Amino acid sequence: MTKESDISAADFMPAQRSMKALKTAAASCRGCDLYRAATQTVFGEGLKRSRLMLVGEMPGDKEDLAGRPFVGPAGQLLDEALKEAGIDRTNTYITNVVKHFKWEPRGRRRLHKTPNRREIGACLPWLEAEIALVKPEVFVCLGATAAKALLGPDFRVSDQHGRFVTSDWADFTLATAHPSAVLRMRDHESRERARRQLTADLATVAKVL
Ligand code: URA
Ligand code: SF4
Repeated sequence: MTKESDISAADFMPAQRSMKALKTAAASCRGCDLYRAATQTVFGEGLKRSRLMLVGEMPGDKEDLAGRPFVGPAGQLLDEALKEAGIDRTNTYITNVVKHFKWEPRGRRRLHKTPNRREIGACLPWLEAEIALVKPEVFVCLGATAAKALLGPDFRVSDQHGRFVTSDWADFTLATAHPSAVLRMRDHESRERARRQLTADLATVAKVL
């Protein structure tokens, strides 16, 4: 008998590994419990053979409703930072480590909850399949969840952001702040500093594209 905890996205992989087949299969994934409270699966999107792949944590409130990654406030900030760094979003592939929105009610709002290790592990087969198809040369982790899941649990974005590191995922790999973390900064000055840092890290990425 299969234990509930043994189930993962791997059990929902389609035989055919085209992007379309993956996206369709992911739409009915029940590899962990997160599908229960979410509206829909938010799969990655963008250029199928992009040289650059950007990976966030998990869809937020707006992404959950729209069914597309990085379309809410964090996505807007990311778009601006990419543009300032000289990167065209339409030439990238953007996705998340976890494909369903995890949240808890706070009044009438749905508050983001960080996915746990089990949920991250369960969802990883989707990202691995996306990487196998896109074959990016440059790989960017946005924030600590992606960086720890993909570059190792000891990775510290605050210390190691903006520098290329070796990884299994691409020739050039770099981690930077999550745009949501930038938005969460309390005062205007820290927010501006973090935003400039994110843009500078993405400008480092632009140099190898
Ligand atoms: N934050 C993420 O990590 N991903 C999204 O798609 C949106 C917000
Ligand atoms: Fe499947 Fe990932 Fe959604 Fe869990 S979060 S149900 S593993 S797509």
